[in-house]
Amino acid sequence: MSHGHSPRPLSSRRTGPLAGTALVPGDKSISHRALILGAMAVGRSEITGLLEAEDVLGTAEAMRALGADVERQGEGHWAVHGVGVGGFAEPQSVLDFGNAGTGSRLVMGAIATTPISAVFTGDASLRRRPMGRVLEPLTKFGATYVAREGGLMPLTLTGASDPICIDHTVTVASAQVKSALLMAALNAPGQTRIAQTALTRDHTEKMLAGFGAKIAVESLPDGGEAVYVTGEVDLKPSDVEVPRDPSSAAFPLVAALIVPGSEVTIPGVLLNPRRTGLLETLREMGADIAIVNRRFSGGEEIGDLVARHSALRGVDVPAARAPAMIDEYPILAIAASFADGRTTMRGLEELRVKESDRLAAMSAGLKACGVTHEELPDGLIVDGRQGMAGGARVATHMDHRIAMSFLVAGMAAEHPVSVDDTAMIATSFTGFETLMRNLGADFVQVNA
Ligand code: S3P
Repeated sequence: MSHGHSPRPLSSRRTGPLAGTALVPGDKSISHRALILGAMAVGRSEITGLLEAEDVLGTAEAMRALGADVERQGEGHWAVHGVGVGGFAEPQSVLDFGNAGTGSRLVMGAIATTPISAVFTGDASLRRRPMGRVLEPLTKFGATYVAREGGLMPLTLTGASDPICIDHTVTVASAQVKSALLMAALNAPGQTRIAQTALTRDHTEKMLAGFGAKIAVESLPDGGEAVYVTGEVDLKPSDVEVPRDPSSAAFPLVAALIVPGSEVTIPGVLLNPRRTGLLETLREMGADIAIVNRRFSGGEEIGDLVARHSALRGVDVPAARAPAMIDEYPILAIAASFADGRTTMRGLEELRVKESDRLAAMSAGLKACGVTHEELPDGLIVDGRQGMAGGARVATHMDHRIAMSFLVAGMAAEHPVSVDDTAMIATSFTGFETLMRNLGADFVQVNA
């Protein structure tokens, strides 16, 4: 992966009603997990609907470097020949995860109980993000590591040659940390217990069950959960149908709500209750979003979303909802700007360590676009005035979701909104520009 790129700015102008059907790509979280668990199973797993964006392709490349056979069969259709739990080979070269926190952290877990060493690196954004939250608990299994000051990449992780099972409570509200530890547990003899107070996304747990792992989940009195995994159990290959990503659907969805006269359908979106916080919040704001044709696909609930332009009002978003909509706060802040009244978002300290410091990046962008708001240490308060002046260029800080959020804002703002770089959108949402243009977006290339 090459990290030097010339920035690709883009401007978004107010447009007429949006209409049509938006087929957003596969879920990023599930795509990473399908490749990794496929690589840890014995035999061939087929994946359909895989997100073929840079973050996930980086994970596919890492699985190849660790000895699995990973082949693209057709659009979104991949076959993985796994090497079995404990079967990873030492990679011959550095594992470069680009912009991908999820890919890199999950793979750290996957190799932590196999006696190999691997060097992890990524782009300038990923090299600023904290890895100690994963590395430290992995040492309990017997893994060791050397990282830059503060637990930053580049880093070398050496898996335990004689791993032991652990009982560990994850205090940070992170599904990546929980998932990394569950993957490490697969090759540790005995039963590992991972507890967490926050109810973060449970795709790893669900998929592990599908791959035949010995796994159990227990509700805890504090409202959290403990996950039990028995190690040294073979994973059976399993076919995975990846539902469409609700975190990507969020962009055409909010665009439809804020552009007058719009009606947009987004079929086949993942509706796992740990991912539907944005839908719940938008509906509380008065959004006209119908969920039709609810069904199950690949062990997950999915449905079609039909969103129409709506008069939104400000709401208090409960802090406890943060894990279920953690990636959606940037686009929610845009919806809140077009609402009437104050929207309060709290409990968001994790947003400071995403692809960018999202609270700072959103605050700077909202300020440039003339939105009255306040940045809190752990949140954002937006005073919605049913519109936005716009007329600004927003710095995206290598963050795909900041870029997409402000391009959506420009579709309804009084004056155009441009973003300094769209290159990062390819990490999570292939075809974003085309998809939005097909609905009616007026995106114009501008000079760097
Ligand atoms: C993810 C978990 C979240 C989320 C990320 C994907 C996952 O990160 O922000 O986009 O697939 O487990 P954290 O675990 O750091 O909260």
